[in-house]
Amino acid sequence: MRIVFLGPPGAGKGTQAARLAEHFGVPHIATGDMLREAAGADTPLGRRVAEIMARGELVPDDLTNQLARGRIAQRDAEKGFVLDGYPRSAEQARALDRALEEIGAALDVVINFEVTEDEIVARLSGRRVCPVCKTVYHLVAHPPRVAERCDRDGTGLIQRDDDREATVRRRLEVYAARTRPLVDLYRGRGLLKEVDAMGSKEEVLGRLLTAVEA
Ligand code: AP5
Repeated sequence: MRIVFLGPPGAGKGTQAARLAEHFGVPHIATGDMLREAAGADTPLGRRVAEIMARGELVPDDLTNQLARGRIAQRDAEKGFVLDGYPRSAEQARALDRALEEIGAALDVVINFEVTEDEIVARLSGRRVCPVCKTVYHLVAHPPRVAERCDRDGTGLIQRDDDREATVRRRLEVYAARTRPLVDLYRGRGLLKEVDAMGSKEEVLGRLLTAVEA
């Protein structure tokens, strides 16, 4: 099962990608997570990536393409993957086509998460993350057992730098300009399924499974 998740920031892609990947026994590949790791390195490249992400802009295609291509060629992705946050531009979509061709594979389905702007703002402003194990929480929808502490390791939760209001606004603009056109691209190829991403995580997962397995 080779699945791509498209959708605006905060739509719940990462939350559902982890669940769907577990369901199908395939890796969850998130370029955002890979880039956050790269941004943590105290190197000129790491600092450049961190600065771009903090502004809510897209990291240059050549770097992202290289990361994604290397990851989907790994052995654990042979049987499939859930690709979360990639591709995000027309050039990345072309690079994904080439990378899949190299390994003799093709996408099965592209899911577009549909969610209102009010819900995006509510989800992103309430998101908290464990800086150690990366578990994602939400202050209202998925709070930790002890306020502001990770359930797994007790670490103090943090807010992602790019979840601040001004950056969220920029990320939404970048999504509309660079990534949203991919919805039509994949619709034209007959791969696109729209999924209503409003409602509880369980409701959304149910709709996703129906869409993917149909
Ligand atoms: P990335 O990390 O990919 O961020 P994103 O796509 O903007 O998506 P988010 O992680 O913000 O949201 P999500 O849809 O995964 O939602 P989540 O499940 O966490 O990218 C970050 C940056 O990296 C980019 O801006 C860019 O700079 C760079 N980058 C990444 N990929 C790139 C690429 N391919 N090319 C170039 N640059 C790239 O949910 C959000 C919150 O809502 C959570 O708190 C969660 O608990 C909660 N929630 C989830 N589902 C529900 C629900 N059903 N009900 C209530 N709350 C819910």
